[in-house]
Amino acid sequence: MRTARDILSPEGILLLPRGFELKQWIAHHLLARGITELSIQLDYKPIEHRETISPVKLAERHFFKEYDRALDVIESTLYRLSQKQSFEIEEVEHAVSDLMPVVLSCPRIMHFLAKARQAGESLYTHLLNVGIITMLLGEWAKLTDEEIINWGVAGVMHDIGKSQVAPDLLDKPGVLEPEEWDTMKAHTVFGYMMAMRSGIQDSGVLATILQHHEREDGSGYPNGLVGSQIHPTAKAVTVADVFEAITAERPYRGRFTIYHAADALQGMLYGKVCPEMCTTFLEGIASFYVGNRVRLNNGQVGEVIWVNKYLPTRPTVRVGESYVDLMRQRDLSIEEEVFDF
Ligand SMILES: [Fe+2]
Repeated sequence: MRTARDILSPEGILLLPRGFELKQWIAHHLLARGITELSIQLDYKPIEHRETISPVKLAERHFFKEYDRALDVIESTLYRLSQKQSFEIEEVEHAVSDLMPVVLSCPRIMHFLAKARQAGESLYTHLLNVGIITMLLGEWAKLTDEEIINWGVAGVMHDIGKSQVAPDLLDKPGVLEPEEWDTMKAHTVFGYMMAMRSGIQDSGVLATILQHHEREDGSGYPNGLVGSQIHPTAKAVTVADVFEAITAERPYRGRFTIYHAADALQGMLYGKVCPEMCTTFLEGIASFYVGNRVRLNNGQVGEVIWVNKYLPTRPTVRVGESYVDLMRQRDLSIEEEVFDF
């Protein structure tokens, strides 16, 4: 049994998101927060049957099994943190370490993340996707498994403070008023306070929650730190967060392709994000460029067959029997990725 709609407190704070599994222990918390009725949906139970399945579908099923399990852990973690209940970071570590081999061995991981976004985006999916992308960055940076898990946990936890910001503000389209922007920026401090209160001691995780919007040139928030003052784990998560945010849909715009997200990151290479982390990321993400189907702005659909990794938005695309070189045909551009889901 799951919630059919977001459950908000009388003050408008998100208590439970749509689709949250309703366990018995939740009921009295909802009552204590003034919730007397809620819309629910019953779980669909598939009938057991035999089937044939392709290796890609098998990988996809395996990925989503771990992905959904990790999402459940994140939902429950945020709920307990926001309710000031006891919390063990080990639960997040276990979910991340279970996910790690699936993520790092999956050549279609970017497709699966896109599919996960199409199924619905929320704070929970953002946290998990950033955790996954930070793990990929850790792999490309040649970290040990233990270090990759630590980065993944920091990625998963980085935006926990957003659970304390009203959903209307998080989803508000257009420009925020100055006081709204102040509240939004405070999610870093809210999250840090939640983490400290819950007993999280890992300095990388704590620093990431507080510092993931700091920028190398001191233009970030909340403290205007410069590069040398920012924790390395926070620098890694910042790169993953920027990439994830650009490829995610927003109320005021559609989602951008991985080519455009990489291009935007490249524009932040000097002064905004850590240049070493960013370069490692751009080198690594390039392995996902070739073989994707894209729609061009003239409506044609083709397959990306070659990319200059420093000009990711201008690949060569095979359309039918012909080749379109976007480096030369400047009037053409990639409009969107096409997924054969
Ligand atoms: Fe954030």
